Amino acid sequence: MFHFNYYTPTKVIFGKAVENQTGELVKAFGGKRVLIHYGGESAVRSGLLDRVKAALDEQGIFHVELGGVVPNPRLGKVKEGFALAREQGVDFLLAVGGGSVIDSAKAIAYALAEPEHDVWELFTHKRKAKGCLPVASVLTIAAAGSEMSPSCVITNEKTGEKRSYNDDLSRPRFAVMNPELTMTLPDYQTESGCTDIMMHTMERYFTQGGNMGLTDEIAEGLLRTVMKCAEVLHTDPQNYEARAEVMWAGALSHNGLTGCGNNGGDFVSHGMEHELGGMFDVTHGAGLAAIWPSWARYVYKDCLPRFVRYGVQVMGVEPEADDELTALKGIEAMENFYHRIGMPVNLRELGINPTDEQILEMAESCANAAGGQKGSAKVLRRQDFVKIYRMAR
Ligand code: NZQ
Ligand code: ZN
Repeated sequence: MFHFNYYTPTKVIFGKAVENQTGELVKAFGGKRVLIHYGGESAVRSGLLDRVKAALDEQGIFHVELGGVVPNPRLGKVKEGFALAREQGVDFLLAVGGGSVIDSAKAIAYALAEPEHDVWELFTHKRKAKGCLPVASVLTIAAAGSEMSPSCVITNEKTGEKRSYNDDLSRPRFAVMNPELTMTLPDYQTESGCTDIMMHTMERYFTQGGNMGLTDEIAEGLLRTVMKCAEVLHTDPQNYEARAEVMWAGALSHNGLTGCGNNGGDFVSHGMEHELGGMFDVTHGAGLAAIWPSWARYVYKDCLPRFVRYGVQVMGVEPEADDELTALKGIEAMENFYHRIGMPVNLRELGINPTDEQILEMAESCANAAGGQKGSAKVLRRQDFVKIYRMAR
């Protein structure tokens, strides 16, 4: 077991109608002038935005709003939010939406804390943040886990770079989680979300040595639960219990819990997906599903005990005398699961067809973003990324 820090300061309010408590929560956390940040139309259509505003009004809390955050949130919107929030003297960022909205709110919060600096410098790792205004969310999709995570992922639309910045400063103050709010999601978003949730745990699971029994059991239980519920929701999207399980799993999968003692995790699939998101604007979870099987086949021999355990404990395959065969059966079972929930298992099924030149560009950018190399199951470099993108075509 490796040493670890575990820090999850986010207060969770979970259950039906909990969004009505948002005003009291903002007040309790000291917010006086709030920027309500949201995405396209979904929070408006469902009436959620009005309910949240009413909850703030009840507490006499000043608020302005800014919508229009798109999936793979853009730096331009962050700058727009920064200008508005600065002009209005905003002291609290309330995201009403999913990972994209929360991340856009986090980036605005960083920008407000150090207005003299360009916030993009954080994402290019030119500097570390010294501050971040308080952020909280009313979550509408179980997926990214940004509601409890220290991560923030922004796309610079001018350069096509999708980059992340991780810092405990941006861990949200509270997360309002009503599973009913996710019932209006299109199936593709629900299942992309389930895929992303699983991947946050899988990225931490496939590491070299130093694993911890309890962490592994939590990880495997989370993965089995999400798989079961993803299949339920594929045919029964209004199932409250399944929505609730997935929502809670989403928060726990990326708040650090499933990585305790595991030495940091792999995160190559995420790094490679971020390039796909930056270049082709694909849905994050579906992009991960399209990369993972090729990554797994590329690295499994170097991390065999974990792949064997995964196959048996998570995918339920019968162990073979030959460990490699068991590992490969586990990867194949995962692909079959992705297909059952309507997810792609390669780039063609994802709906994109990158040229050789684009693959070289993505591999180069992925390596640069990682400082040359990335991975724990197997340490990979630019040339490895090229091979995996090619395998995934
Ligand atoms: O914009 P609206 O109209 O709200 O539509 C959204 C959007 O089109 C829709 N949606 C959300 N809630 C809905 C709904 N539609 C109907 N009913 C609802 N209740 O769903 C679409 C996707 O929303 P988005 O916020 O993009 O989803 P997600 O939570 O998957 O976030 C994806 C972003 O998070 C990043 C991803 O890379 C991507 O940019 N990630 C952030 C992480 C973090 N901060 O910790 C970690 C992740 O690994 C990930 O990289
Ligand atoms: Zn993710």
